[in-house]
Amino acid sequence: MPAEDVMALRKEHKGIVHRLAIVEKCIDAPGFNERKFRESMATLGVQLREHFTHEERAVYGPLNSRLKRSSPTRELIEDHSSIWKAFDKLSEAKLAQGAGVAPSTELKDRLSSLQLTLRRHLEKEEKVVFWLADLRL
Ligand SMILES: [Fe+2]
Ligand SMILES: [Fe+2]
Repeated sequence: MPAEDVMALRKEHKGIVHRLAIVEKCIDAPGFNERKFRESMATLGVQLREHFTHEERAVYGPLNSRLKRSSPTRELIEDHSSIWKAFDKLSEAKLAQGAGVAPSTELKDRLSSLQLTLRRHLEKEEKVVFWLADLRL
């Protein structure tokens, strides 16, 4: 796999982490702005969908062909569905009403859960998958 392709995927990871930080900022802002929150979540959703499609095609597919049964992609695909579940739960969380009202515990908890699920997955990919892809594809 050409180095620039691996770099493009890493760049997408950075973009996703950055977008999630914007969602967190929206939630922690003193005056909760529902429109901004919804817009950031929608953008994050698009970024995730494009990135997952990209890497499943460019990395997971070739890894499966090369490594057959020892390919780690089954677990990574499961991670993608866990990330979507956490994303949907955050999208459906009850929102705090009005300016100056603290964000609901539910909202904060669901954000933490998405952050954790996503962080673990990205770390796994950066350490193992992209390294493997660099070596073998
Ligand atoms: Fe992934
Ligand atoms: Fe990824």
